[in-house]
Amino acid sequence: MTSAAVIQRCKELARFSEDPDRITRRFLSPPMRDVHRTLGEWMERLGMHVRVDAAGNLRGEYEGRDRSAARLLIGSHVDTVPDAGAYDGVLGVVLGIALIEALAKRRFRFGIEIVAFSEEEGVRFGVPFIGSRALAGTLDDGLLSAGDAEGITVAEAIRRFGLDPARVPEAAVDPRGVRGYLEFHIEQGPVLESLNLGLGVVTAIAGQSRLGVTFRGAANHAGTTPMHLRRDALAAAAQWISTVEKEARTVAGLVATVGQIDAKPGVGNVIAGEVRTSLDVRHASDVERHAVVTKMLAQAEQIGKERGITVEVEHRLDQAATGCDEGLVKTLESAVSSAGFAVHRMVSGAGHDAMVLAGHVPVAMLFLRSPKGVSHHPDEAVLEEDVDAALQVGLNFLAQLEAQGG
Ligand code: HGY
Ligand code: MN
Ligand code: MN
Repeated sequence: MTSAAVIQRCKELARFSEDPDRITRRFLSPPMRDVHRTLGEWMERLGMHVRVDAAGNLRGEYEGRDRSAARLLIGSHVDTVPDAGAYDGVLGVVLGIALIEALAKRRFRFGIEIVAFSEEEGVRFGVPFIGSRALAGTLDDGLLSAGDAEGITVAEAIRRFGLDPARVPEAAVDPRGVRGYLEFHIEQGPVLESLNLGLGVVTAIAGQSRLGVTFRGAANHAGTTPMHLRRDALAAAAQWISTVEKEARTVAGLVATVGQIDAKPGVGNVIAGEVRTSLDVRHASDVERHAVVTKMLAQAEQIGKERGITVEVEHRLDQAATGCDEGLVKTLESAVSSAGFAVHRMVSGAGHDAMVLAGHVPVAMLFLRSPKGVSHHPDEAVLEEDVDAALQVGLNFLAQLEAQGG
């Protein structure tokens, strides 16, 4: 499959969306069936055995010569953020299938399993990595009982998709049967483009904290309530959000984002009584990240005290910074250089399924340049030449695993 065909296939999958005029695909939403059907067809045409596990991950097996040999996993996620681009996640799955096609029925000693993870972004339930947690065996009852905005739990969403949540444990991989996990992914940032490089070898993935922070004051009439008698939840949240930004700018390598804000009752002539916000903090050091989160929450409390506002915090995710497997990284680096490309090691600011699997199997990631550094946006793109390069590196990587007796 040519790099143009890989890009075309990502665009084809982008048509499957919950919204008619933008790309939005959440956990086990109806368009996910179309994605499963299309990816399944592409994989079955290559003689792969395709199934959907109880967490909604689509999984395609390409057998090796030796059934007892530990297999290689190649994958990424096929859910998206709202109004997404066409490549975040999906590219990693389509590239995996393109590698199998490029083998032209050649079989390595080890098998290859392509995984399209059902949910990585955390959009529907506020908690990410549902699909990869199932493979890691960490999709616990607590997460299965998490509810979405309509009060539908993860378990119920699984049932409504026609799957059985009781079988989620069967989705877990036995680490003894897995050689490693390789994820191709767009960088989603400006670094590779700024260095005029097409590929990056990921050495580590920054840790991330995701929280909900709710400010509760008193709704009241916008016209009759004097300023000094107000407990304005939106003014409190706004003050806090600007302190978050100020604080984040003081710590090298740290990013903090308040991406969500929901004011109630949310009309112009009523002082907001309740404001729900999100907080997303990332850093390569967990110690730094935890210290900043603690400070930002203390600032919220302080602002609340000064304004007679209560502050409620919900801790949704504390994902530790994760290193990729040194051995697999070395193999990937050698695959990059033997394909004739410069090796650039880098840390990922974005979270990935690889960080969930890293505690169970060796993981490695190859980044492709993001033109204009844009992602989580319809302008997200990828260059044909970089897809070409990634395919060459992927074939070298497989050949090197074979040579190592993988
Ligand atoms: O938000 C992230 O880090 C990734 O895009 N899921
Ligand atoms: Mn993403
Ligand atoms: Mn992604």
